[in-house]
Amino acid sequence: MKNDLLQVGVIGAGMIGALHARNIARKTQGAAVAAVMDVDSERAQVVAADCGAQAYTDAGALIADPAVDALLIASPDAFHAEQTLACIDAGKPVLCEKPMATSVADGERVLQAELAAGRRLAQVGFMRVYDQTHADVYDMLARGDIGKALSFRGEHINPWRENSSIEGAIINSLIHDIHSARWLMNAEISQVFVQWVRSEPDQPRSARYAIVQLAFADGAIGTLEWSGDSGYGYEIVVEITGEAGKARTISHSSPVLRRGHTASQGVSPDWPQRFAQAYLNEVQIWVDAIRGGQPTGPSAWDGYMSLVVAEACIRSVESGLPERAVGRQRPALYNPR
Ligand SMILES: NC(=O)c1ccc[n+]([C@@H]2O[C@H](COP(=O)([O-])OP(=O)(O)OC[C@H]3O[C@@H](n4cnc5c(N)ncnc54)[C@H](O)[C@@H]3O)[C@@H](O)[C@H]2O)c1
Repeated sequence: MKNDLLQVGVIGAGMIGALHARNIARKTQGAAVAAVMDVDSERAQVVAADCGAQAYTDAGALIADPAVDALLIASPDAFHAEQTLACIDAGKPVLCEKPMATSVADGERVLQAELAAGRRLAQVGFMRVYDQTHADVYDMLARGDIGKALSFRGEHINPWRENSSIEGAIINSLIHDIHSARWLMNAEISQVFVQWVRSEPDQPRSARYAIVQLAFADGAIGTLEWSGDSGYGYEIVVEITGEAGKARTISHSSPVLRRGHTASQGVSPDWPQRFAQAYLNEVQIWVDAIRGGQPTGPSAWDGYMSLVVAEACIRSVESGLPERAVGRQRPALYNPR
């Protein structure tokens, strides 16, 4: 730890990697960016120069650098598991963007590596946990304000048209909602049923819009709504119906404008605007937890269980039927403290 600052190495200098690197370099207490790695050397150099850091094109060399205390992985999904495993192997804390892996089998390997290390080193980038509107709903439920939760409803509305397959939408995008549902309901998802609308009529696995029905292990139920192309902006909403009331996040923070016989309200253009503060909170709390020696935040267990549910969703896509989501028994390392 040079100059009493946690020295972070950032892997992947694309959209979110650059955002995290700049947040750490400029807006995070107790940390600095020591190095930035990207297979695209120009990208690595631009972001490294901006953060006063060293540029790398080899993830292994960056992880092994003794000047690097902790890692943040923001490479494409397919590299997350191997790079997280390399960080655990090096005994260095790591914040890995979601999804932690792209299969349950690889998620299990990350769990096994942490269990062998005997301590939590990996955190997964489920950053809605650090969004105030989500945290307020969590607190309402924990206080018992709405009694026992009966159902979860999530809306995940994306503004962009991208050529996503239904499998890609589940593993890369709906995984956020799967984690939100598990976290806020404080229960595992035990069954899923997926239905979707194609974005390309002649491509059966293309996805424009999806509904996922959920059953939870404690008897509660739920739905996730996902859109790949809203045509109007970006919205994330969660709503929980309890025995004694209902809690719903506020999706808009702009004022309601009344003018010319209409009332209107702004909608976020996309995720960097909607969750700007959550990304800042996420890295600050991660840095504080490492410095304090007490891991917090979404764990490798959360990363793994979200993949168990995501794979059940993919089985439902294939079978056209509801499918069970069955994970292994939670190891004691991940018991709530
Ligand atoms: N938590 C969130 O809200 C959130 C938001 C956006 C993206 N993400 C996740 O972050 C990751 C990156 O997304 P993005 O939007 O920044 O993508 P991006 O395409 O903008 O950036 C990815 C970067 O990784 C680099 N790269 C490719 N192969 C690599 C490798 N083997 N090692 C290191 N870097 C490599 C690419 O050159 C590129 O610069 C994805 O896994 C995505 O799911 C999470």
